[in-house]
Amino acid sequence: MSASDMINDCPVLDLRNIQFSFTHAKYLLSEEAIIQTQIKDFKLGNAFADAFIVGKLFILEMYTNAVSGVSLEFEDRDIISIKDFSREEINHIFKTAKSMEPIAAKGSEMLRGKILATLFFEASTRTRLSFEAAMHKLGGSTIGFAEAEIASVKKGENLADTIRTVDKYSNVIVLRHPLEGAARLAAEFAEVPVINGGSGAEEHPTQALLDLYTINKEKGRIDGLKIAFAGDLRYGRTVHSLAYALSLYNVELYLVSPESLKMRREVLQTIKEKIPVIEKTSLEKIVPLVDVLYVTRIQKERFPDPAEYAKVKGSYKINLQTLSEAKKDLIVLHPLPRVDEIAAEVDNTPYARYFQQVWNGIVVRMALLSLILGATK
Ligand code: NCD
Repeated sequence: MSASDMINDCPVLDLRNIQFSFTHAKYLLSEEAIIQTQIKDFKLGNAFADAFIVGKLFILEMYTNAVSGVSLEFEDRDIISIKDFSREEINHIFKTAKSMEPIAAKGSEMLRGKILATLFFEASTRTRLSFEAAMHKLGGSTIGFAEAEIASVKKGENLADTIRTVDKYSNVIVLRHPLEGAARLAAEFAEVPVINGGSGAEEHPTQALLDLYTINKEKGRIDGLKIAFAGDLRYGRTVHSLAYALSLYNVELYLVSPESLKMRREVLQTIKEKIPVIEKTSLEKIVPLVDVLYVTRIQKERFPDPAEYAKVKGSYKINLQTLSEAKKDLIVLHPLPRVDEIAAEVDNTPYARYFQQVWNGIVVRMALLSLILGATK
């Protein structure tokens, strides 16, 4: 069968459904060669990274999706763990987030009539407000609470009943809760999709997506980078999700923390099977090596013993001196809030990208809401 026959045979697909990137761009000799190479090499779940060649590849995408039945399905999907995402899906979120950049500036009516509920049982500034801003920018509206103290939880209502109630008022729920597993439990009780806005010290998947988006945008790639995390790797949920996400890429990861705050063992075991990981307690020798330095706050509120917190408080302070040997194009990220781990003097250097990260949080969350609510494919 010739390429043109294949193309003619290809069932009509919704092109917006199709996101495809693949490593075989170098075989782009003719449509026929592409199709044959691609069909032979196509494996479900493989990371087809790097090249995304628009135009000609659209035809190939249509065909491959038609024969394999693969399409990226986001509508009605819960976002509980970053581990549930493939590299292809993350690429699709990036692409959608990029398309949200002009919409974020001028607004849209894409989600008119849809309601986002934000249920925050723990403190938050960025996650809750950026989800709410994202929903408003897409023409939707928001309900919710930011203090469990004023909700019926105070009267003894359990999480399952709260979720079963809010489910009736909304089209999507973002939940932040101090207990690990809370978001997964909520997803079992809700018919509408649930997004994990932080589950105890466990995970924060949407933060990982915006962190990755920022790295990709600022460095032009993720593959090939050397990335260091510094701070509380035990109780910090953002670094858990980001570590899982980075293990889908070809990166080297340096984990710098006090001995008592080393990366959670279960995370370490999983990522070590996929990428090189180097654990350290001192930052000094690591700073000059890396392309990205991701700094986190010591999570005071999660320490069972205040004396243990006192021992590690202020362990790392990134200032101009710490960065004196850094690569010129190093970027410093932080999920925020910061306490004292990045000195204010760093804010005006080209290294500091944590406020760009905040902006990227809006477009990534706009992308997630529009995909989950079916306004974008
Ligand atoms: C983080 C969180 O809540 O886990 N903040 C955020 O969502 N941007 C980081 C933190 O609290 O240290």
